[in-house]
Amino acid sequence: MMWPDRGGMTIVADRVELTERIQRLKAARSAVILAHNYQPSEVQDIADDVGDSLELSRIAAETGCRVIVFCGVDFMAETAAILSPEKVVLLPAVDARCSMAGMITAEDVRELRRRYPQAAVVSYVNTSAEVKAESDICCTSANAVKVVDSLQNDEVIFLPDRNLGRYVARFSRKRIILGSGYCSVHEHYTRQHVMQAKRNHPEALLVVHPECRPEVIDLADHVASTSGIVQYVCSRREQEFVIGTEIGLLHRIQRICPGKICHPLSMEAICGDMKRTDLEKVRLSLERMEPRVSVPEEIAIRARRAIERMLEVR
Ligand code: 13P
Ligand code: SF4
Repeated sequence: MMWPDRGGMTIVADRVELTERIQRLKAARSAVILAHNYQPSEVQDIADDVGDSLELSRIAAETGCRVIVFCGVDFMAETAAILSPEKVVLLPAVDARCSMAGMITAEDVRELRRRYPQAAVVSYVNTSAEVKAESDICCTSANAVKVVDSLQNDEVIFLPDRNLGRYVARFSRKRIILGSGYCSVHEHYTRQHVMQAKRNHPEALLVVHPECRPEVIDLADHVASTSGIVQYVCSRREQEFVIGTEIGLLHRIQRICPGKICHPLSMEAICGDMKRTDLEKVRLSLERMEPRVSVPEEIAIRARRAIERMLEVR
């Protein structure tokens, strides 16, 4: 958020006041604030829970609160709305969209099913509700290998992320038919970024997200979802890491294990849509109880099946 340039103390005071207003509204509305690991620091700091897509969808399914304020992008709020149709789901940044989710349509899925009638369809949660409704099961970066393994089919259509699909294929004996989507934030990393980071920080371990290109994954010490990266960094005795995912995760790591030294693989790895949320938008969403996210019931019923099937995979 752009804070008025009136000196550090005032900025802090504004932020404190805004945070208090959000807390009061949250209590009055019986709301929970969920934030993805890539959210701006100020948003992570006021959230009740911060996590990866899988953790947040589990919390959204289980929360007793009447209202869910989803600080993230469109597909995350949609997933919460599908899982909890009786709740009000607010997306403070209404225009926050995952560009990868826009790379596949429900008609694309139907066409692939016609071409590969024996194959199961696994959709990354980074998809629209319509795509989920056409899928057998969803997955996230935290459980993709387990989800594919849980299927009886020998052939799997994996959509839309080609990089996550290729990563899963490394561990699976199934024939994986790949989508052609990608995340531009992770696709941005190249072998050159890795080589430069290794020169700059020769002692550091490289940890990357599975949305990275195969050539980057090949050079990594560990590959995991956003929360998996946090757990890895915190659990290792090594002190220094290079982090190959969106830079918002660095704040999360710093909060949970402040002693570690983490370098971004690239300072340019920023998801602009994840950064659309700010404290003022969170406050406004709670005050006005909008923008609301809802999914038509006939789509939600089918999409829910695919998400719940994923949540059953442990
Ligand atoms: P995680 O599920 O690992 O948090 O990833 C979500 C995402 O959008 C990655 O780009
Ligand atoms: Fe989508 Fe990539 Fe942004 Fe994640 S980082 S929300 S996959 S565009």
